[in-house]
Amino acid sequence: MTIEDLTADDSGAIEQAAALLVDFAPNRAAAWPDLEEAYETLEEALEGDALVRVAVNDAGNVVGVAVCAPQYSHAWELHPIVVAGDEQGRGIGAALLADVEELVAAEGGLTIYLGADDLDGLTTAAGADLFPNVIGHAQGLKSQSRRHPLGFFLQQGYEVIGLIPDANGPGRPDIWMAKSVAGLADAADEDEEAAAEDADGADGREDAEDAEAADDRDKVEVEAKPAP
Ligand SMILES: CC(C)(COP(=O)(O)OP(=O)(O)OC[C@H]1O[C@@H](n2cnc3c(N)ncnc32)[C@H](O)[C@@H]1OP(=O)(O)O)[C@@H](O)C(=O)NCCC(=O)NCCS
Repeated sequence: MTIEDLTADDSGAIEQAAALLVDFAPNRAAAWPDLEEAYETLEEALEGDALVRVAVNDAGNVVGVAVCAPQYSHAWELHPIVVAGDEQGRGIGAALLADVEELVAAEGGLTIYLGADDLDGLTTAAGADLFPNVIGHAQGLKSQSRRHPLGFFLQQGYEVIGLIPDANGPGRPDIWMAKSVAGLADAADEDEEAAAEDADGADGREDAEDAEAADDRDKVEVEAKPAP
């Protein structure tokens, strides 16, 4: 499996990624009701500054997609990250997220944030009177179902930074989460320096090897776990 850029000229991959948004988006009714809207989201992302990364299986099919766009000078919003239903639980979501985090850090981003709506009563924030003391509710927030991605993001190092009460109607809040990626830029620089030293030491073809390394950086090989 590889993680790579979704490109504007790859209509087959765009079609598969759009289908994932429609089929597996967390809040289907609210987000991407049809392929047309999913295409629009992806096309806008591809035209702008967003990172659009896809997980592609060995058969060449898109089985995961993540979009992350700069919304502040140093904070990027992840919206969305989706893995095909029959491929979930294999580490693909975690690998996509780690990939996006590294790329955001390499772009100088310091924070990634996201909204994880709860339209279906899957966390303790749903159906509750969150005012007053919204922050208190956020601190005590618990997931009540694996159908909500709260547990996934907590496991990947994100923390709850707030709630928007009734964001999607009475008792249907949005849950905001964030993670610092500030430390990842230094680690990436060190990896790059080590790779450059290896290439320089090998023989005289540094330019060709450097160019190849740059291509390889964009396309990452990952090993998915067997389905649970
Ligand atoms: C959330 C999502 C992207 C996770 O992708 P995934 O490929 O299934 O996740 P992974 O297999 O990489 O999981 C990584 C770890 O998180 C855990 N995890 C995954 N989903 C979880 C959940 N909902 N609650 C708690 N833990 C979860 C896994 O068990 C795994 O743990 P392990 O490393 O101890 O085995 C995927 O379930 C999905 O597409 N959901 C629907 C769309 C969605 O809700 N997107 C997020 C909001 S935009």
